[in-house]
Amino acid sequence: MYAMIIDEYGEPEVFHKAELEPDIMGPLDVQIKIYATSVNPVDWKVRQGRLAPRLPSRFPAVLGWDAAGVVEKVGSKVTQFNVGDAVFSRPATHRPGTYAELVVVAEGLVAFKPSNLTYLEAASIPLAGLTAWEALVEIGKVQARQRVLVHGGAGGVGSYAVQLAKAFGAEVIATASAARQDYVMHLGADRVIDYHTESFSATVYNVDLVLDTIGGSVQDQSYTVLKRGGTLVSIAKPPDAEIAQAYGVFAHWFFLEPDGKKLEALGYLFEQGKMRPAVGHVFSLEDIAAAHRLSQEGHPEGKIGIVVDPGYAMTR
Ligand SMILES: NC(=O)c1ccc[n+]([C@@H]2O[C@H](COP(=O)([O-])OP(=O)(O)OC[C@H]3O[C@@H](n4cnc5c(N)ncnc54)[C@H](OP(=O)(O)O)[C@@H]3O)[C@@H](O)[C@H]2O)c1
Repeated sequence: MYAMIIDEYGEPEVFHKAELEPDIMGPLDVQIKIYATSVNPVDWKVRQGRLAPRLPSRFPAVLGWDAAGVVEKVGSKVTQFNVGDAVFSRPATHRPGTYAELVVVAEGLVAFKPSNLTYLEAASIPLAGLTAWEALVEIGKVQARQRVLVHGGAGGVGSYAVQLAKAFGAEVIATASAARQDYVMHLGADRVIDYHTESFSATVYNVDLVLDTIGGSVQDQSYTVLKRGGTLVSIAKPPDAEIAQAYGVFAHWFFLEPDGKKLEALGYLFEQGKMRPAVGHVFSLEDIAAAHRLSQEGHPEGKIGIVVDPGYAMTR
């Protein structure tokens, strides 16, 4: 299969085209013919070797952890999927990734693609959308009429978190730079704070749930806007338990464990029109180095979609 691989850690220039054998299939695996994938910040953090202690790469390495496409093969014990099914997935991080024509994924990590979305749109959802789901629904237990603060509302995770909190009936306040205010309002935020000119901790209060996608001082100041008994969920930095206790709030950090059933539930919100795909930038797989450079700059509008098969990526 054709893939964009790396043979060493480094800058985006380490990507090059190669022919590889697809991963070996087990009885519970499906092989997906990928029509589209997407870029997440974890991709370039792995490429740089920054995550090697947690996620060591075996070279040649195929990065990328979002896929949308059709089932090409099924293992002997697969029960949920058949050849030809349109699916999407956030594959396991320890196996070869999705900057390739084919990926092998345990069936438990796969879900049917929402029928109203193109493959390119669907591929933007699994990693970022499941992260938002885990933070707000599973851990944060978001509820109608709660006040939710989403940091980085214009980013990949933030774009889905703003919509998800809205879909659950919450009041949503998001932070974003000035150029992204309209974009985040269109996602459904009730209020957008330009973090360059306004300190959120000076004007936001009584918050039930904060999603921290930034860490550092953003996390430190987030405790002050929470009501007692509120919840801080960070995907950027493990919170300090003593500080959380001092403020009388719950504080959590997690690294996403993907799950096909949760992805199916999330996909249903898109199928019902309660959430919209957030693909702000599109590159071809051959141009993956440029897509990484954009992601590394840290200010994408929504997700960076990658076309793997131009014949099918924009079809439903
Ligand atoms: N733990 C996990 O399982 C997990 C899962 C997914 C992602 N992550 C991590 O979470 C982070 C966000 O991921 P992502 O996919 O959303 O990244 P992304 O698409 O690159 O978005 C980053 C966003 O951060 C915003 N930003 C930068 N500095 C900010 C600040 N001081 N205050 C508020 N917003 C700020 C940018 O907003 P503007 O463009 O408006 O400036 C941009 O929208 C990354 O570090 C990623 O690695 C962790």
